[in-house]
Amino acid sequence: MTKFECINVALGERSYDIIIGGQLLNTAGDFIKSVIRSDRVIIVTDQNVAPLYLIKLTTSLEMAGISVRKIILPSGEQTKSIGHFEKLTDEILAMKVDRNVALIALGGGVIGDLTGYAAASILRGIDFVQVPTTLLSQVDSSVGGKTGINSRHGKNLIGAFYQPRLVIADIDVLDSLPKREILAGYAEIAKYGLINNIDFFAWLEEFGSELCEGNKEYRRKAVFVSCKSKAEIITKDETEQNIRALLNLGHTFGHALETETGFSNKLLHGESISIGICLAFDLSFLLGLCSKSDVKRTRNHFATIGLPTNLSEIDDINWNTETLLNHMLSDKKTKNGEVNFILTKGIGKSFVARNINMKDVHIVVEQAIQQR
Ligand code: GLY
Repeated sequence: MTKFECINVALGERSYDIIIGGQLLNTAGDFIKSVIRSDRVIIVTDQNVAPLYLIKLTTSLEMAGISVRKIILPSGEQTKSIGHFEKLTDEILAMKVDRNVALIALGGGVIGDLTGYAAASILRGIDFVQVPTTLLSQVDSSVGGKTGINSRHGKNLIGAFYQPRLVIADIDVLDSLPKREILAGYAEIAKYGLINNIDFFAWLEEFGSELCEGNKEYRRKAVFVSCKSKAEIITKDETEQNIRALLNLGHTFGHALETETGFSNKLLHGESISIGICLAFDLSFLLGLCSKSDVKRTRNHFATIGLPTNLSEIDDINWNTETLLNHMLSDKKTKNGEVNFILTKGIGKSFVARNINMKDVHIVVEQAIQQR
């Protein structure tokens, strides 16, 4: 058996393991067999991932005595739509499935979120397993049970909290990712250090560049620490009533930027989070909550890694402060016209801030636009 580590997400009867290691696709069948209710699965994947890993995963499942059906969807954020949700659920129901069938999401965040939501909805809930193939989905979206699709009114506005039965994070599949995708995932890794783990952030300052260049031991450690941090938070607050919101550090700003760029390749989710975290630190400094040196340390680290930290780095977008503030007001995290932000008292000291005056947000965004 290949060497692997296991983190348990302790949620009572919805508990599950996150398995992290190398060469795990070869043994995924045995892991999956131990958590599913029948010997039938449907793998949902996309056109980019299928040529790389579908045969390997299928072989491993079949060797474990599991019969496999496959659905291959177009790749990209556009697939996380009501239209594709309808097609996917239709295709699965046409296979005359019963409640014991399990879905396996083989792909990045789009495939994981869509497949998870299909699993939550079909026959009022069937099992699903996450096999994330991007760094971002290994350290964030595959863990914690946020499933869903985008609406024309905004990102992830339709969805459900629905936990997978298992997450298998194979570090070796990251080898096929373009550098830009690795960096985008890295922003979410750094987020865990900035939320509540200054030692991890210091470790990333030392080893982050090598991690992004391909060092597998550092990648394994970063995925492990990130998943462990997330699992601890999810265990305490599965449905984001309080501390789970910390995982949204940089996301209020970031989602506004993504909405403005149309969720396109102009700005990947992780890139928007990199800029969003920098703006959250700027706002914290403006409000007298954190030191200038912490703002600089954070900005320097993202810039050294090669992530964007300013709006000016994103080409061909005519940024407008009022428009970005309006996007924030339409975000699903907004309640009674009040936008919640995750702010910080310094590296590793993030907290949920309510009643933020949008005039202060205006100053920070305007400043970020003027840095062009
Ligand atoms: N990605 C943030 C969360 O899962 O809560």
